[in-house]
Amino acid sequence: MTPVLLIGNGAREHAIAEAVMRSGRAPRLYAFMKTNNPGIASLSTEARIGRYDDLRAIVAFAKERKIAVAVIGPEDPLGHGVVDALAEAGIPAVGPTRALARLETSKSFTRNLLEKYRIPGNPRFRNFTSPAGIPEFIAGLTGVVLKPDGLTGGKGVLVQGDHFQTPAEALAHCAEILRDHPGVTVEEKLEGEEFSLQCLCDGRTVVATPPVQDHKRRYADDRGPNTGGMGSYSCADHLLPFLAAADVAEGLEITRRVAEAIRRETGVPYRGVMYGGFMVTAAGVKLIEYNARFGDPEAMNILPLLKTDFIDLCRAIIDGRLESLAVEFERKATVCKYCVPTGYGLPSEHSDAAGGPSRIEVGDMRGARLYYSSIDQRTDGLYMTSSRAVGVVGIADALAEAERVAEAAVTAIRGPVDHRRDIGTEPLIRKRIEHMQQLRKKPIPSGG
Ligand code: AMP
Ligand code: GLY
Repeated sequence: MTPVLLIGNGAREHAIAEAVMRSGRAPRLYAFMKTNNPGIASLSTEARIGRYDDLRAIVAFAKERKIAVAVIGPEDPLGHGVVDALAEAGIPAVGPTRALARLETSKSFTRNLLEKYRIPGNPRFRNFTSPAGIPEFIAGLTGVVLKPDGLTGGKGVLVQGDHFQTPAEALAHCAEILRDHPGVTVEEKLEGEEFSLQCLCDGRTVVATPPVQDHKRRYADDRGPNTGGMGSYSCADHLLPFLAAADVAEGLEITRRVAEAIRRETGVPYRGVMYGGFMVTAAGVKLIEYNARFGDPEAMNILPLLKTDFIDLCRAIIDGRLESLAVEFERKATVCKYCVPTGYGLPSEHSDAAGGPSRIEVGDMRGARLYYSSIDQRTDGLYMTSSRAVGVVGIADALAEAERVAEAAVTAIRGPVDHRRDIGTEPLIRKRIEHMQQLRKKPIPSGG
């Protein structure tokens, strides 16, 4: 019997829970969640509710249940040092220690690491702890992106053209960021198509999972505010329609070098997920950011395709034996669509959360996978909060069929809900391909 602790309460963790329970190592799942996810709870021997900064409660639960492997879903517990606390109690975890989780929690740490170890992929950037020098640096860039240092829940990045227009506005935003954060990273705005490359790392060996494209914008055609992610797709050939095998190899090579750099820099092996958010540009593959965990929704694209036993995989990561494990994924296309409350992504005064949680009814999933996210199960049914509610995933030989399966399932969910119809559809994919073709024709900007 293998008692596994899973920390997290979202759809990503529901997909992880499912992968754990598919294992042939007699899994027993123990979930530690901030709120009760009915999908995870139904797969668990025991679910405990608590806060992700309550390390004492997490460690006590793990010790009580004699946990063999802990899997950390979201970034908050990693940032609080849950892996360090579990290690002190002799419980191994898939996830980096607090110091190594800086790969995600500190934008400046990661940019500096790439620069110090001469790893390609950085845009032009500088970290600032005071406004001095920012105007001069901005003057030399054609477009700028501002990133507060520290965890911001994916909503802290400000992009010129989207969130502000002029250099003067950029400076005002920097001053504001510096009031609340220890620093701000100012960087060149890149142009291209983004892809997520979720890699597994045991400290030495880095293994890539199939690349995925997420859709951050709230509305169809990439309009509206940025969200945690409205849905994502992956292809049967383990590439993306606008991405060549060489681009994926470039992302993997950057990640390999980062894993090595982090080990040299800290003396500690990185054991967990290194999820690179990359952008393929006319000047090659660039790094947008690293996350120290699986993506949400991207975990829902790749984990259902995993052929390798998930517990074996976790053990190989923990024991530094990834090199000798064949990590395999089915050659299928996947489309994930998130069902969200209609007010999701809007400023809270406009969101329907103000009127209290709304009830939804999940209809016939017609062959799609269903992963619960921010859902509260009460005696009279399922209620949404203000966040992403349910992720559905279509899996098929071809992308078009996977999209049809996902679309049919997500429209079967009834209530005050919305989703992005266009994710995984041919017109949107064609737009991505044409965007890249256009960029590759333009002269490459100098210094990029
Ligand atoms: P992050 O929170 O780092 O994922 O950033 C949120 C979004 O901002 C990314 O998904 C990108 O779309 C955008 N972004 C971040 N950095 C850059 C950059 N250097 N150039 C262009 N877009 C960026
Ligand atoms: N899909 C974006 C994230 O997980 O951060």
